[in-house]
Amino acid sequence: MTAADSRPIAILGGTGAAGVGLALRWARPGETVVIGSRDAQRAQATAEKIKQKLGNQARISGMENAAACAACDLLVLTVPFDCQAELLKQLKPAIRPHSVLIDATVALAASVGGRASRTLGVWQGSSAQQAAELVPPGVRVAAAFHNLSAELLNGDDPLDCDVVVCSDDAHAIQVTRSLAAKIPGVRAIDGGKLENARSLEQITALLIGLNIRHKGHGGIRITGLPPEAYG
Ligand SMILES: NC(=O)c1ccc[n+]([C@@H]2O[C@H](COP(=O)([O-])OP(=O)(O)OC[C@H]3O[C@@H](n4cnc5c(N)ncnc54)[C@H](OP(=O)(O)O)[C@@H]3O)[C@@H](O)[C@H]2O)c1
Repeated sequence: MTAADSRPIAILGGTGAAGVGLALRWARPGETVVIGSRDAQRAQATAEKIKQKLGNQARISGMENAAACAACDLLVLTVPFDCQAELLKQLKPAIRPHSVLIDATVALAASVGGRASRTLGVWQGSSAQQAAELVPPGVRVAAAFHNLSAELLNGDDPLDCDVVVCSDDAHAIQVTRSLAAKIPGVRAIDGGKLENARSLEQITALLIGLNIRHKGHGGIRITGLPPEAYG
């Protein structure tokens, strides 16, 4: 599989637990990462903290979300579901044509005050499908990373979890699988059409429920596929 080819990765909402965890996992093997935030200073402070952890050679910086979209054409969205649509509407003029946007948002009921182990009904089918309706024409949307625990991403150990990638665009699937495969322990699997993101979000809610019940950090492994499916 090809690498992400040092294409800078902007993580929108990258100051939160999921965004910081992904940033760590990509900056560590040498990817260039831009932390995005509503507040440029908060983004820079987060990038600085990650640099302190990884060392000065880490290629990581922080910018306001719109500036991060203007600087990068590989975008990862890690914001709570209740602000996802509004943020994408704000960022639409800044998102470059032909960008790949990877949506990790989960429409958890917790984002509107409900239980974390339930998902909300999303009119379009899933958060990722909602994102696909809101980005400029030509932007390729993939759904991935929903089932990785932020707590484990922020640690140093390999993750015991597969990442299923869904998209209607073959290039977006390939780029997203390359990024996922950079996370130690993760196998990246083509999960087919973007509409399958609905199932990924439901699995997250199930995992959260299991983690609360059993006090753990459960992940998923997909078994029984031919070796090339995990490549
Ligand atoms: N936590 C996990 O284990 C995990 C794992 C996989 C996927 N996810 C999904 O990834 C997303 C982020 O999770 P998280 O735990 O990192 O969430 P979070 O910490 O609550 O939020 C992430 C970032 O979103 C930005 N944000 C918050 N409210 C906003 C608003 N109204 N408008 C624009 N930006 C706003 C904030 O950045 P600024 O204030 O700096 O702008 C915040 O740091 C969620 O959809 C979650 O379901 C989470």
